[in-house]
Amino acid sequence: MAKTDAIISARDRIAVALDVPGSREALDLADRLGDACSWLKVGMELYYASGNSLIAELRSRGFRVFLDLKLHDIPNTVAGAVRSVSQTGAELLTVHACGGPAMLEAAAKAAETPGAPRLLAVTVLTSMDAHELNAAGVPGLPGPQVVRLATLAKDSGIDGMVCSPEEVSAVREATGPDSILVVPGIRPKGYPTDDQRRIATAGETISRGASILVVGRPITRAADPAAAARAIVDEIASAELA
Ligand code: C5P
Repeated sequence: MAKTDAIISARDRIAVALDVPGSREALDLADRLGDACSWLKVGMELYYASGNSLIAELRSRGFRVFLDLKLHDIPNTVAGAVRSVSQTGAELLTVHACGGPAMLEAAAKAAETPGAPRLLAVTVLTSMDAHELNAAGVPGLPGPQVVRLATLAKDSGIDGMVCSPEEVSAVREATGPDSILVVPGIRPKGYPTDDQRRIATAGETISRGASILVVGRPITRAADPAAAARAIVDEIASAELA
């Protein structure tokens, strides 16, 4: 994706999380999704099992790849990782905002190379509540820490942020209209929350200012994943018009 490409259609606004253990399951799911969505999210479990050949396979089927590796290391190492990912054709890549300004700036500089992915800073993991955050040495509630880290990421030259549906409005306000806000924790009305704590529907989350929604189980565990994805795309399109 060229840096200037706009997110244009509702189909480009969901990333289906391929939370499966290997290439065979991932490609099967990709084939079942067909053209119902543009983006597939490859996380650590799948990437460490299947590597760059899987990214190439998904791209050859016409999908855009969001590589969710949540990089967090010293600046030199993270910059090198960003340069390595630039060879794969993945278009979005996550780094941890809590790696600090030097790490974020080094990542952003490495992402200026041709073919580099756009970077998204993970703020506070949605699995962390106040108790978890405090135990890790950060006082207070997750909300203010999410906004603090999102602002840090923006000031360090990072293109976007990952946050929960609860924080989207505050992060949009803090980081402005151009940030790519990527939001997991999406659940259709009546669908089980599973292990997610801070959830909302696709329409609500788009209305609050999200750019791309990450959706896993409501699509991947559906009897017809393509139909489930299309239903969410339709909900996004309706929210865009509202
Ligand atoms: O199945 P579900 O829709 O809950 O999947 C959400 C996806 O988003 C998973 O791949 C999960 O790892 C990811 N994610 C998340 N919370 C974050 C970052 C990523 O749920 N803060």
